[in-house]
Amino acid sequence: MTTTADYTEKIPNNVDLHEDRRLQRALESWQPNFLSWWESMGPSLPTADVYLRTAVNVGREGWAHFGHVAMHDYRWGIFLAERDPARRIAFGEHKGEPAWQKLPGEYRADLQRLIVVQGDTEPASVEQQRNLGATAPSLYDLRNLFQVNVEEGRHLWAMVYLLHAFFGREGREEAEELLHRHSGSEDAPRILGAFNEETPDWLSFFMFTYFTDRDGKYQLGTLKESGFDPLSRTCEFMLKEEAHHMFVGTTGIDRVVERTAQLMVEHDTDEVAPRGAIPLDVLQKYLNFHHSVSLDLFGGETSTNVANYFTAGLKGRWSEERRRDDHKLTNDSIMVDALTEDGQIGQAEVAALAGLNTDLRREYISDCQNGVNRWNRILAGAGLPQRLRLPHVAFNRKVGAFAGIEAAPDGERIPAAEWRRRKREWLPTDVDKTHVRSLMRPVHERGKIAAWIAPPRNGINGKPFDYEYVHLA
Ligand SMILES: [Fe+2]
Ligand SMILES: [Fe+2]
Repeated sequence: MTTTADYTEKIPNNVDLHEDRRLQRALESWQPNFLSWWESMGPSLPTADVYLRTAVNVGREGWAHFGHVAMHDYRWGIFLAERDPARRIAFGEHKGEPAWQKLPGEYRADLQRLIVVQGDTEPASVEQQRNLGATAPSLYDLRNLFQVNVEEGRHLWAMVYLLHAFFGREGREEAEELLHRHSGSEDAPRILGAFNEETPDWLSFFMFTYFTDRDGKYQLGTLKESGFDPLSRTCEFMLKEEAHHMFVGTTGIDRVVERTAQLMVEHDTDEVAPRGAIPLDVLQKYLNFHHSVSLDLFGGETSTNVANYFTAGLKGRWSEERRRDDHKLTNDSIMVDALTEDGQIGQAEVAALAGLNTDLRREYISDCQNGVNRWNRILAGAGLPQRLRLPHVAFNRKVGAFAGIEAAPDGERIPAAEWRRRKREWLPTDVDKTHVRSLMRPVHERGKIAAWIAPPRNGINGKPFDYEYVHLA
């Protein structure tokens, strides 16, 4: 059974919003603030319409509708996955109890914090990507950018719904703050570091959607396990949309690697910059940067807060139900990354509950490795011996056990002076960034593509690559 959204309402939703007039009015008064945020902080390229997917349903089939829409008329809505009336909490001290339909008072502050931190990332990425439209490599890519942007906007709606529906006045104030903080702002920055970095070019965008959106996938995966059922159902549906964001990142980098490899073979050289492409070593540096700042998003290797969230049933593990243990972890231990007593990069044994950030980060890293394997298959397929690799977990970290030390990408601890001397080999330099930016000339003509990236194998929703995905204003 599925619930179809009510599109006659101002705010499309499958939560029977019309039955709760107070909530409906509160959200309707937030809506113009959202729209003015979108106008001032959302995509800056003027468009007439864009071929977009709009969520209309949460069922297994046909959950989305595709069509050309003016972006400011996009139907942002509130969609929760179907409720399973028999759902029980799968972990922690409440394991086996029915999932909570109402907010458990004792966990109010913790849940509010988790929702606000998640909610803050959604509009942040829209702000970071605001100016990319002006330099899109094709209309296909432009459309994908806007698709990601409107859905991040919808994810903000998803979190704001929870804040308004369950957290009273404080929740409404937090919802305002979500529009007030801005990525990179001096006085009111976004909460998490990676969401205050710039996304100045399309290589950064693809790296962001590969590495940083993937962090989002893992965070949502843990919240999907939450004993607080409305949060669980919200995140479950967000994950569905998130899959496309991962796809944009994965295939975006595929296509950059493919183009670079093609030119390397054709001209028998690593020096593809003069040929208008991105050299492999620059790709590796971008990868190093985005992977390491995304690792920071998982927090410290050990965390008592996260242990408490787990025990309380607020935030589970990735694939909680598939884990073969007691789902309470009170007697278990885990090896986490740590500095050893003699200051070396190594591991230490801690209580499993304390090490949950490390558990999640490891799931994430092994997922990231899949992309690297893909890109290396493209290089191998082109007959090239070079390979890309993920940097070591200790590399370029600002959060956690390795924040105070320096490490090379292979995980060797190095003195600060060596780091300063050599970091240009490992992280994008101003010269690299300037080169990448110099390639970012817009290709807004139907069926055409920029020289630094290969065209996609397929279009969107069965449409060809040369479809009119975007009509510019
Ligand atoms: Fe999102
Ligand atoms: Fe996303």
